[in-house]
Amino acid sequence: MTIPYEAYASIDELGAADRALLEAAIEALKGSYAPYSHFNVGAAVRLADGTVVKGANQENAAYPSGLCAERTAMFAASAQHPGVPFEAIALVCSRDGRLMPDPASPCGACRQVMAQYERLAGKPLRIILGSGGPILAFTGVESLMPLIFNDL
Ligand code: THU
Repeated sequence: MTIPYEAYASIDELGAADRALLEAAIEALKGSYAPYSHFNVGAAVRLADGTVVKGANQENAAYPSGLCAERTAMFAASAQHPGVPFEAIALVCSRDGRLMPDPASPCGACRQVMAQYERLAGKPLRIILGSGGPILAFTGVESLMPLIFNDL
């Protein structure tokens, strides 16, 4: 198995569409509600019609009731724009108002949800992992989650 990916030194090296989506994810950090972890995550989904839907992590006093930024964004996108295929998702993370140095990395549950929307879209999802330093980009969830469960 191989993991194809692209690495970029900074946001300036990205193409216009990826760059705009990563900037939307940075903007989405403003909506993070993380009073327990103090770890802020922002995500932005781009749909096939160009719509961008933002999301941020939402925590709760009953810890497992909270939700990651990626799923907040993806579920909002699907709920508000039913049937419009997903094209790409970008995410970033910060602490104390400062972007983290390493690229944000989605948890397994978020990867599983990405896989389902990718399957629904019928084409590989572009995934852009950034923050304050280098950026990694993947085309297809399989790169982030090999042998994924998608037996619908
Ligand atoms: N978090 C995300 O929003 N996305 C991830 O992929 C990993 C973790 C959030 C959940 C929680 O609010 C905080 O980061 C610390 O785990």
